[in-house]
Amino acid sequence: MLPSRTQGACLRLPACLAADHRQTRAVNVLVTAGPTREPIDPVRFLSNRSSGKMGYELAAAFQHAGHTVLLVSGPTALDVPDGVDFLPVETAAEMHEAVSHHITRMDIAAFAAAVADYTPAAVAAEKIKKSAGTLTLELVKTPDILGSAREEMKFTGTLVGFAAETENLLAHARGKLVRKGCDLIIANDISQPGIGFDSNHNEVTLVYPDHDAPLPRASKHDLAHQLVQAILEIHLSRTAC
Ligand code: C5P
Repeated sequence: MLPSRTQGACLRLPACLAADHRQTRAVNVLVTAGPTREPIDPVRFLSNRSSGKMGYELAAAFQHAGHTVLLVSGPTALDVPDGVDFLPVETAAEMHEAVSHHITRMDIAAFAAAVADYTPAAVAAEKIKKSAGTLTLELVKTPDILGSAREEMKFTGTLVGFAAETENLLAHARGKLVRKGCDLIIANDISQPGIGFDSNHNEVTLVYPDHDAPLPRASKHDLAHQLVQAILEIHLSRTAC
């Protein structure tokens, strides 16, 4: 006699089939991307060379795989990928507030933004005038958005960070993985020519809690699809029934 459909199908399936079944379920994904802009006065700001390309490709790849994506982005010159919800921000503080507000309903959060580490202590109300000699700006730390996801924001989903380093890439990436409670760090050696900031190509190493996995150089578009697969595999193993 065949088992009835109500007899605990999930427990009876081999693990691999259960995983395939779960993989088709759409999940909610938050992606941060782009640089932040920290205002100095009404016409000037501090920022960095992030183009936002890797984060936008990642958001598009998650959407293409059938998932619901919210892209929280600093200013970029890129088009918002079709079918992706978009929340534009300027400063690190605004990105922190947007992420805090939305992260609790997310299954996966991937932080590809190049968030400014420091912001001016005060924003001048008027354009700062040129004067003789030097100008000293006082800077204060911005909130560490990725670093506050676990304790402050109580995020229990799959957490992925990026690390862009010019030296000791893997050691720094592993330090971040542990300190910030991540499941994966995507480590990017920005000292190499032709990849990383503003390039259409990238070469990364996936840093997991127990091993590293280098990926071959690829376009950010192709790489994004590989990253989505790797992140979904982690998510499936964290949530396996
Ligand atoms: O700047 P850092 O190399 O430490 O960035 C590592 C990771 O932390 C990246 O995923 C970045 O998006 C995230 N980050 C953040 N908030 C910051 C600084 C970095 O979310 N204030």
